[in-house]
Amino acid sequence: MNEQNLVIAALKPLLAEHLDEATIAKLIETPKTSDLGDYAFPVFQLAKIFRKAPQQIATDLVGEIDQTNFEKVVAVGPYINFFLDKPKFSHDLLQTILTAANHYGDADLGHQGQVPIDMSSPNIAKPISMGHLRSTVIGNAIANILTKVGYQPVKINHLGDWGTQFGKLIVGYKKWGSEAAVKADPITNLLKYYVKFHQEDVEHPELDKEAREWFVKLEAGDEEATKLWSWFREVSLQEFMKIYDMLGVKFDSFNGEAFYNDKMAEVVQMLADKKLLKESRGAEIVDLSAYDLNPALIKKSDGATLYITRDLAAAIYRQRTYKFVQSLYVVGNEQRDHFKQLKAVLKEMGFAWSDDIHHIPFGLITQGGKKLSTRQGRVILLEKVLNDAVDLAQKEIDAKNPSLANKEQVAKEVGIGAVIFHDLKNDRLNNFDFNLEEVVRFEGETGPYVQYTNARAQSILRKAAVELNADADYTITDAAAWDVLKQLAEFPDVIVRASKEYEPSVIAKYALRLAKNFNKYYANTKVLVDDGEKTARLAMVASVSQVLTQSLALLGVQAPKEM
Ligand code: ARG
Repeated sequence: MNEQNLVIAALKPLLAEHLDEATIAKLIETPKTSDLGDYAFPVFQLAKIFRKAPQQIATDLVGEIDQTNFEKVVAVGPYINFFLDKPKFSHDLLQTILTAANHYGDADLGHQGQVPIDMSSPNIAKPISMGHLRSTVIGNAIANILTKVGYQPVKINHLGDWGTQFGKLIVGYKKWGSEAAVKADPITNLLKYYVKFHQEDVEHPELDKEAREWFVKLEAGDEEATKLWSWFREVSLQEFMKIYDMLGVKFDSFNGEAFYNDKMAEVVQMLADKKLLKESRGAEIVDLSAYDLNPALIKKSDGATLYITRDLAAAIYRQRTYKFVQSLYVVGNEQRDHFKQLKAVLKEMGFAWSDDIHHIPFGLITQGGKKLSTRQGRVILLEKVLNDAVDLAQKEIDAKNPSLANKEQVAKEVGIGAVIFHDLKNDRLNNFDFNLEEVVRFEGETGPYVQYTNARAQSILRKAAVELNADADYTITDAAAWDVLKQLAEFPDVIVRASKEYEPSVIAKYALRLAKNFNKYYANTKVLVDDGEKTARLAMVASVSQVLTQSLALLGVQAPKEM
């Protein structure tokens, strides 16, 4: 339901000769204060056509407008102000929401087109970083949002399971590692070897040479190298799965970089056939100066392939496999140039679909103002963050609601929900400084606040214990409900905007605002008092709960019914 359409419908018969529907829609404004109505239409543009003063035009049009759907329509200076018919609005809206249930806000922008979403994509043998957490939760939310508007997302974890770092890791393991240590605590120990490698190679540059040789061996399929590599991959993935399980994120594919090993020769051949490859100091590059970009390094002088070569193979593979309508890469802003290069090379290769590739960047997480760095061992361990958040939630519950059933489950949903929501509530491109207390805060603009508001709505409904069926009368005349009702009606537009901007924060901000509006309403209104509008008020409470639950679900956050 979109009330703006009522305004368009009222204006169209009068203006059809002069303005088309899209232009009318674009001109409609939302007044700052509700005493000026719910919508306003400025008539300046019509002054030339009607050869009259705008004030006069507004007054004349108001005289002719069909006002059946409105409480009133008035001219205020050069504006026509529309006041929606609140009783009718509330009834229609609540009926729509209760009938549609979880489908309220569904749209069909995507016509079921497939959209691979490259997300999470951590590197084997290293801990999942905060950056990977961001990619995971942002990608997951975008996938949910795209599903809601009619696309078929394909969530791909493009694991960093190939590259020169595996040469370093093998050298590190062979020099300082043991099977027992890796088995006991895989990521911690593998990371240790990697960090030590970088400390040692400052004084022992020969280590670098050894590492390069091991990687070349790995690319050639050497047995020992392959065995170590696949073992590192397996134990790392097991650790990653623990975190994905905690976050409740599932993937459709774990085809990582190594998956493209046998698909790169074709790409290199295609580049050669199209005469795009150039030699530069023994390496093979694609010149991108026409795009104002650095050259794309396709093959090193020792024959080793590179990150971008694997990404080229992956892009082509995804196009062939999914016939995608869009192909997304949820990866940190610091890889902006890499994705520009990727698109540019594909464009040079003559693939028109390169225009459907979108890098969805996000901001950096720093700690104490400093960049995090795996190499220097400055990392935030995600598993610890999640566990701490759950512990904190558990303490909150023990203090506030000790008799709650399912306490442990709720603590998980609240603690982890807090971390996810914290990540999604700001524009994704914003940088932020990591601070555990901040992440697991439960008051203010947080996930637990939205969850708590929903649980409160649920408790009102439990207390009332009435059955809400779609054909009851849901007319609300109380002005105090107006902000909540109008916001409920915005939900479909909010989803469309979030999907077009690939911006989950649009939904997080919406949920926070709805929670605030609802709490304000609830503080001043006796919902359960027995008068003619009680059922309608309960329908509104149920609708708020439904829309909050859906908003949280789109973000990948659970909504416990009690907390
Ligand atoms: N593994 C990479 C990293 O941690 C991210 C991979 C992103 N995806 C891609 N197709 N390049 O930086």
